[in-house]
Amino acid sequence: MLKYITVAIILKLFSLNPSTKRAYRLIANNLGARSRTNKQLPPRYFNRANTLLDLNHRYGFLKQGDKILEVGTGWLHWEAIVIRLLFDVRSVLCDVWDNRQLIALKDYIAQLEGMLDKLSGDDTQLDRARRLIPEIKAVQSFDELYRLLDFTYVLDKSGELASFEQETFDFVVSSDVLEHVHKDSALSLVKGFANVLKPGGYSMHKIDMNDHLYYYSDTVSPKQYMHYSDRTWKRYFENDVQYINRIQLPEWRAMFHDAGLELVHEETRLEDLKGLELAPLYQDLLLNEQACSNVIFLYRKPL
Ligand SMILES: C[S@@+](CC[C@H](N)C(=O)[O-])C[C@H]1O[C@@H](n2cnc3c(N)ncnc32)[C@H](O)[C@@H]1O
Repeated sequence: MLKYITVAIILKLFSLNPSTKRAYRLIANNLGARSRTNKQLPPRYFNRANTLLDLNHRYGFLKQGDKILEVGTGWLHWEAIVIRLLFDVRSVLCDVWDNRQLIALKDYIAQLEGMLDKLSGDDTQLDRARRLIPEIKAVQSFDELYRLLDFTYVLDKSGELASFEQETFDFVVSSDVLEHVHKDSALSLVKGFANVLKPGGYSMHKIDMNDHLYYYSDTVSPKQYMHYSDRTWKRYFENDVQYINRIQLPEWRAMFHDAGLELVHEETRLEDLKGLELAPLYQDLLLNEQACSNVIFLYRKPL
């Protein structure tokens, strides 16, 4: 618990003003790049790739020639690159700030090369990936990477896809992003997905609903934040630099529904919350909603 509180205080201090936030981003980007270089590709990234491809086998949402939008693409462009290795698509990659890291990205893609046999693609797709990866490893800049892969990188500070044209994308994807969107903007962003999708297009989102302070201190519950009222959370634990919105499963479902999207597939991971005393705010949730730590949603915009 001591580590949990210490990290919360440090992150709150970094959230004090625009200068401390800038300092945080600089430090986080440098430390992140260093910690990721020459490190093993975390299995969760490989699993994410296969989850996406397996769902595509089942529902057939990706086609050659499609236009893809990856929201919150981060430092690695993971989903966009995995899709592009197997499909001939054009992609737009957007984020609210620039945290790209070319060396670490190339390092992870080089490791993926050695794991292609285990990736859920057919022979033609995997041959395509085998041809493309050496070219990715050889690029010297992001511009070169984007020319090679037909990517466009967009910084959209609005965080609500306000600058994108309506009904232009066949597939919208995000991973570990929606939990970081401010509580008051979440519905606008989900409506943004619906706006930019073509009728019949699909939207796939993985949301990590764990307490992100838990990643620094695994002696607490994975959903420790559910112990706190809004007031206590805001005052002592919430911060702007690693913000999480504490939105739960039924609220996400309601937002996608309100945005006019139809649920195609939902996959949840549950945690054992044994010993965690819940704040009244969370007591009305069903048990499997309280315990849900991760969800993968696949939605479709009606024709
Ligand atoms: C935990 S990182 C995940 C990055 C990447 N998807 C991955 O898994 O490697 C969250 C990312 O979401 C971005 N983000 C947060 N709010 C956003 C918004 N409203 N629109 C787009 N990106 C956002 C952050 O800047 C950050 O790059």
